[in-house]
Amino acid sequence: MDFNLTEEQIMIRDAARDFAKSELLPGVIERDEKQQFPAEAIKKMGELGFLGMMVDPKYGGGGMDTVSYVLAMEEISKIDASASVVMSVNNSLVCWGLENFGTEAQKQKYLIPLATGEIIGAFCLSEPEAGSDATSQKTTAIDMGDHYLLNGTKNWITNGNSASVYLVIAQTYPEKGHYGINALIVEKGMEGFEVGLKENKLGIRGSDTHSLMFNNVKVPKENRIGEDGFGFKFAMKTLAGGRIGIASQALGIASGAYELALAYSKQRKAFGKEISQHQAIAFKLADMATDIELGRLLCIKAAWHKDQQMNYDQSGAMAKLFCADMAMKATVEAVQIHGGYGYVKEYHVERLMRDAKITQIYEGTSEIQKIVISRSIINS
Ligand code: CAA
Ligand code: FAD
Repeated sequence: MDFNLTEEQIMIRDAARDFAKSELLPGVIERDEKQQFPAEAIKKMGELGFLGMMVDPKYGGGGMDTVSYVLAMEEISKIDASASVVMSVNNSLVCWGLENFGTEAQKQKYLIPLATGEIIGAFCLSEPEAGSDATSQKTTAIDMGDHYLLNGTKNWITNGNSASVYLVIAQTYPEKGHYGINALIVEKGMEGFEVGLKENKLGIRGSDTHSLMFNNVKVPKENRIGEDGFGFKFAMKTLAGGRIGIASQALGIASGAYELALAYSKQRKAFGKEISQHQAIAFKLADMATDIELGRLLCIKAAWHKDQQMNYDQSGAMAKLFCADMAMKATVEAVQIHGGYGYVKEYHVERLMRDAKITQIYEGTSEIQKIVISRSIINS
């Protein structure tokens, strides 16, 4: 077994690290405070290839492996989780979904500008009354012959206002349950499509979360992804990979907090010595480092499963479950190690603690990951 990263993987990780430090760190506190979307940085991330990392170069992507994506996600998330959620949604939900299940015409029209970062995308499954219980979709897509008539509301949509292309899950044949659901490509500006107010959030405040309203939106038939009724399977298959992205986001939030806490503990003195020399603090750092290493191994293993075309439903869910809980724990400890300084914004760790919480909620709550894992274990 070879635990060494390839030269290319190291290069991608280091490029993401440099980018995060030079382009995302300046202004990250202010963007969080003002709930400001990191538009300029996202544009640059697109130019550097971070928004379509795994997409085939013939569709404008980087043709990289999922392990490289995990490494880059960790580095970006160490500094700015509001930027890394944009990266995760665009790469693992929108681009991956279109590349794997879209028609050639859809790839030419939508995937290429998404993979190059010319535009960004959104993935729209959740509704006011359908979050974890995702099959109970209330949004309808009625078959009108040459188009679908889309009506309903989506909630909590990341990139809600900044996106140009939206993958929308909706029910066409309610009597068929999840077999009646379709996935449609909706463009911003289609008549009857409205973006609701921005959510005022606890964390990832720079990211752009909105509800979306569809009122008799005419979506051409050629914008359906996959066969009639494939929409729920599309969402589940796409989310299985998305969870590797969010696991890596949680990993990055934890390792960012750990690195800050380690550096601080070597500078701050109390009772005549650096606080890292007090065993209570040293042991916290040892626990954090061990948990982060475990989380990184889980993320890389799930990514490796995906790269080997093996099933990654269970390993991706395990990585997300573990890393999300671990990020909460590590960021709380990082604040504790900083003492009072950890409670104020200049030291970054309070933001990382607030950002960590979302990783236990989106792309399937921690409870939902346990459902996925337990079903996989029991049914195998
Ligand atoms: N791959 C392929 N098919 C899958 C699948 C997978 N990974 N998981 C489930 N399916 C299929 C099942 O096989 C089943 O099909 P059949 O009946 O033909 O066998 C169908 O999907 C329905 O599955 P279940 O019967 O298991 O459905 P359920 O109602 O029990 O729900 C669930 C399963 C796993 C809980 C699912 O509803 C779920 O994942 N919920 C969470 C939703 C979620 O993650 N939302 C995230 C929104 S996006 C987001 O959050 C983005 C962001 O923040 C940035
Ligand atoms: P509920 O499903 O109502 O769950 C409430 C509680 O009950 C949770 O603790 C849950 O774990 C628990 N629970 C529910 N069912 C069970 C069960 N069977 N067993 C045990 N416990 C259970 N969605 C998108 O589609 N696209 C996006 O881009 C997107 N971005 C988001 C960004 C943010 C900032 C947020 C907050 C959410 C985002 N979401 C997005 C929505 C997110 O995926 C949902 O919030 C999440 O899936 C949970 O759904 P819910 O909020 O309706 O909670």
